[in-house]
Amino acid sequence: MPTFTQDEATQYDSRIPRLVPGYELLHSSTAAQLQATLGDEAHILVIGAGTGKEVALLAALQPKWHFTAQDTSQDMLDIAKQRFVELGISERVTLHLGSPSELKQQADAALCLLVMHFVADNGDKKAMLQAISTQLKAHGQLYLADLMRPETLFERDAQLILSKQLGLTETGVERMQHNFEHEFFPLDRIRLADLLDETGFNSGKLYFKTLGFSGYVAQKR
Ligand SMILES: C[S@@+](CC[C@H](N)C(=O)[O-])C[C@H]1O[C@@H](n2cnc3c(N)ncnc32)[C@H](O)[C@@H]1O
Repeated sequence: MPTFTQDEATQYDSRIPRLVPGYELLHSSTAAQLQATLGDEAHILVIGAGTGKEVALLAALQPKWHFTAQDTSQDMLDIAKQRFVELGISERVTLHLGSPSELKQQADAALCLLVMHFVADNGDKKAMLQAISTQLKAHGQLYLADLMRPETLFERDAQLILSKQLGLTETGVERMQHNFEHEFFPLDRIRLADLLDETGFNSGKLYFKTLGFSGYVAQKR
């Protein structure tokens, strides 16, 4: 898995839209669903909050929403913290460096965008989903976006071509190709549905798809 430390953290915001085609649309379409389903006051759990993209976007949409921003990278959370200070929203955000299972929440909704594909399917993905489920209110929605198993033989090649067109350097493309093979743990839709079911969620509904990246919304039972 990428380390999300040092340069990988400081360069994250400029690199990620080249690595994930439709990155902005993923976030805006997630945000629109939160606006459609949550009231004026809500607590949103953001797993793998990274440099604070989700929190910054959502905080601007609804002034009474509060957030828990969790991540395992100190460097990513440091950037997020600075961003929240600059935006004047720090008092609405609780930062958590560590495992999601250490949190004690009853959140109204949870986001886990572009995170779980780095977690091995050896019990660790299930533990992550279980931790999220435990910290969501009944009927709360989980928004989950990951690189999935390719559904065609040419999907990954197309992603590399598109990323290059989006401005990724040759070195970046090579690294991405390596990462596809060695750093991700992509699921197919059936395995994802099983894991969601085992951790207390209804089957996820697909709301975002660009080549290998898929976004699902799943409701806690
Ligand atoms: C690709 S970034 C996504 C950041 C943000 N969600 C976004 O959409 O821009 C992945 C983030 O997940 C974090 N991460 C990796 N493994 C994690 C884990 N097991 N639990 C929580 N966060 C994790 C990384 O540190 C990194 O900040």
